[in-house]
Amino acid sequence: MAKRDWWKKGVIYQIYPRSFKDTTGNGVGDLQGIIDKLDYLNDGTEQSLGVDAIWISPFYSSPMADFGYDVSNYTDVDPLFGDLDTFDTLVEEAHKRNIKVVVDYVPNHTSNEHPWFRESRSSKDNPKRDWYIWKDPKADGSPPNNWGSMFGGRAWTFDEATGQYYFHQFAPEQPDLNWRNPKVREAMMNVLRFWMARGVDGFRMDVVYVIWKHPDMPDQPTVAKGRSETDAFAQQQQIYSFNYEGIQDIMGEIRATLDEYDAVGIAELWLSVEDRMKYYKNFEMPFNFDLITEDMRDSWDAALFREKINAYEAAIPEGKFPNYVLGNHDIPRLASRYGSEERACSAAMMLLTLRGTPTLYAGDELGMVNGEITTEQIVDPQGLILGVEHTRDVTRTPFQWDASAYAGFSTTDTWLPVHSNYKTRNAATLSEDEQSILSLYRKLIWYRKTKPSLIIGSYESLESPENTFVYTRTHNGEAHWIAITFGAKAVSIDLPSSGEIVFNSLLNRAGAVANSVTLQSDEAILIKLA
Ligand code: GLC
Repeated sequence: MAKRDWWKKGVIYQIYPRSFKDTTGNGVGDLQGIIDKLDYLNDGTEQSLGVDAIWISPFYSSPMADFGYDVSNYTDVDPLFGDLDTFDTLVEEAHKRNIKVVVDYVPNHTSNEHPWFRESRSSKDNPKRDWYIWKDPKADGSPPNNWGSMFGGRAWTFDEATGQYYFHQFAPEQPDLNWRNPKVREAMMNVLRFWMARGVDGFRMDVVYVIWKHPDMPDQPTVAKGRSETDAFAQQQQIYSFNYEGIQDIMGEIRATLDEYDAVGIAELWLSVEDRMKYYKNFEMPFNFDLITEDMRDSWDAALFREKINAYEAAIPEGKFPNYVLGNHDIPRLASRYGSEERACSAAMMLLTLRGTPTLYAGDELGMVNGEITTEQIVDPQGLILGVEHTRDVTRTPFQWDASAYAGFSTTDTWLPVHSNYKTRNAATLSEDEQSILSLYRKLIWYRKTKPSLIIGSYESLESPENTFVYTRTHNGEAHWIAITFGAKAVSIDLPSSGEIVFNSLLNRAGAVANSVTLQSDEAILIKLA
């Protein structure tokens, strides 16, 4: 495989640095915390999780209006997380363990405290005015168009001093950069170069499909959908701001820059399958959120999974490689979404045996569930505007390391409360339990490494009884058969040939199987076919 193909073989692990491990005793995680826990992630033995890459959410200088997704200096580390030396050590220590390092790249917006924006807002004729998107009010003083912010409310904030509105697709503290300005593009390419020169192996590119807008920004068409009726964003189709005509040229510029150092591009895309495929032209991994989108959140349904996965497989362009994401820092915890520990285990089995690079969100390997966040405890800007049902704080509570105070994450009160279940649901306790979800993740990840059919093998979904999802992975005569039950009843499923149980999601079965296998409700099984 060419150098840049590491991502195809590996398992990527997402770390939200605020919530991983605090080493300074301020209740917030930091880069040293990640370094200290690298052996947990991969020490080269099956005692560790065995992941091949980490993607670290933003740790750059930031006033933290969106917890780091509002960057005030792209080329420095926020003191809360450490400094550039700590970052260099992190890269070095990760690489020693064969762990690649992917960092977040936030191209769409800066913080309103970024020096570029301070200059831009200082006067209408400042040379940086055009680095952001400024427009005059309508005659009646209202915003220039109807566009809503993804966090709720309008996408425009009025600036008294200069009498214009500036545009922000997220919080008012996150003004959108004007990517139509070549100077902005140049500055943002240099951000990539800065981190690549420090040894990073790739970038996860934050909402990269929204950086290119219609130059005139006409009103978006309105349609009734989700969230509340007063939430403009949810009532609109983002036809002039998402995946807008010409964006692939800009993606091509980013690609060319990544190529200078052979770095991997991972694109965050909340788009249809069809639209996402266009991003394969320039990036290795257009993130696949098909199994975590709105319509999948409350459903544990074999037919829906099969349908989504098969449609995705069918859409992948020739020679390109799929990927799967089942959790991240923006959506409720996998174990809460799918409803039970058993289902979270079945989900792990799918994530690690489907054809495609798996991205695992820190804490999902412990079966962490949604944090217990009251309205008073909300700190997420989306939650502050849209309310407790929409707060992303629930998926960002501290990682549960052990049964000691603050779950071994910190030594003091933490930025979000530690879940009350931490005494039993923690990495140390689950490590001791040979049938725990953590043991399952470890087994799956290490087993997968040794089996080409599970990494690059072909995928075929098979006819199977109702409420079951069955598929095979095959490569050069090596074949695995995977079955997942979604129903309440036990079910017997025929096998294409005899085989050997590798393990099941409950880690309580092994041995040879002949013509069929009987599975309990919400069970998954991995069988190596003879
Ligand atoms: C992405 C991030 C999310 C952030 C938003 C704005 O969706 O994943 O956490 O709030 O972009 O940067």
